[in-house]
Amino acid sequence: MALRNVRVEGDEILTKHCKEVREMTPRLRELIDDMFETMYESYGVGLAAPQVGVLRRIVVIDCTDDRSQPIVLVNPQIKETEGEQTGYEGCLSIPGKRAIVTRPMHVTVEAFDADMKPFRLEAEGLLARAVCHECDHLDGHLYREKAESPLEDVPEEEEEDFEEYEEEA
Ligand code: NI
Repeated sequence: MALRNVRVEGDEILTKHCKEVREMTPRLRELIDDMFETMYESYGVGLAAPQVGVLRRIVVIDCTDDRSQPIVLVNPQIKETEGEQTGYEGCLSIPGKRAIVTRPMHVTVEAFDADMKPFRLEAEGLLARAVCHECDHLDGHLYREKAESPLEDVPEEEEEDFEEYEEEA
C-alpha cells in the first residue's frame, strides 16, 4: 500500500466525468488499498478515485471512528433518496474548509464490491451524506456548488478530528 497525492480544487481532473470499471484488475485493487490508506491518513471518511487522479468510478468510505466499516463502491448508482439533512460538509480536496450542505437523510445505492459482485447499500445520516458527496466527485462535482453558506475555515480546535464530513451542525 502507498499514500497517494490528493488533488485539490483547481486541479482540472476534479471536474471530469469518470469512466465505469468493466473488470477488476490488480492495478485497481492496489488503487483501492491506496485510497483507503490515503483516506485514513487524512482523517477523511470518504475518498473518490478522481481525488487521487484516477478517472474511474470507484469510491471508498468509512464513517466509523475505529475504521471498522470500510466500504468500496464500484460504479455506484443512487437509486432512491429520502428525507433531508442540513449540516457542515468538507472535502479533502478543499482542505481546511467547510460549508453547510443539504443532502438526503437516506439513500439506497447499488454498486459492485472489490470482487465486482453487485450489492445494495441502505445508507443513513453521515453515511448517506458520504455516498452523495463521493458520487458527485465521480461526475466532476464538488460540494462548493451545493454549499448554502460561504466556505469557512474549520476552527483549529476541531481540525484534528475534522473528517471529510461532519455530523450535522
Ligand atoms: Ni470530497
